[in-house]
Amino acid sequence: VTQAIDRAALDQIFRSARSLHAFRAEPVSDDTLRELFALASLGPTAFNCQPGRFVFLRTPAAKARLAPALSRGNLTKTMAAPVTVIVATDSRFFEWIENPSGRAVYEANLAMAAEHGFRNGSLQGAYLILAARALGLTAGPMSGFDPARVNQEFFADGRWQANFLVNLGWGDATRPSPCAARLSFEQGALLL
Ligand SMILES: Cc1cc2nc3c(=O)[nH]c(=O)nc-3n(C[C@H](O)[C@H](O)[C@H](O)COP(=O)(O)O)c2cc1C
Repeated sequence: VTQAIDRAALDQIFRSARSLHAFRAEPVSDDTLRELFALASLGPTAFNCQPGRFVFLRTPAAKARLAPALSRGNLTKTMAAPVTVIVATDSRFFEWIENPSGRAVYEANLAMAAEHGFRNGSLQGAYLILAARALGLTAGPMSGFDPARVNQEFFADGRWQANFLVNLGWGDATRPSPCAARLSFEQGALLL
């Protein structure tokens, strides 16, 4: 029988978890990043198309390549984060689809492929954030950067395209994490 996860787990993934960029000076191992990828990749995508791609920047050299593309407000915290993920979309994601008829649907309609790629790749980025929280990591998503510069620097062949960034690390619990107001049910939902 499937039942709701417990209160503490809900707190960890939603109620107490905030987008933060203050991390302990403790590395995130490659094994943890692999576990994170494995969990995030289990989230649903259309036709199981999995267009999201994740580039884990965890060395100073890799971070330095990203620096010129960052907005002023995101620069210092991103350079200090143990890991920064480029959440990207593979514009030819459909080449990996095992079912040939699924692949053919996208090959025949590249506009639909672009729409599905962006939608489902964005979802996969969201799964990554929630999976990170489930593993005890803190995630700081960011869209304050120049995607054209990131694409030029990391994806010169034009196939992958940057969507957004996520700083990752082990949270610094000494920092307060107030929750900004959310829309009420009446503001944000309809019951029909
Ligand atoms: C796609 C996306 C882009 C964001 N861009 C930035 C950013 O560039 N810089 C930043 O400091 N925070 C950024 N944020 C964090 C949001 O401001 C934050 O999620 C929001 O204010 C709600 O706060 P909370 O996540 O801590 O509850 C971004 C979040 C998302 C999901």
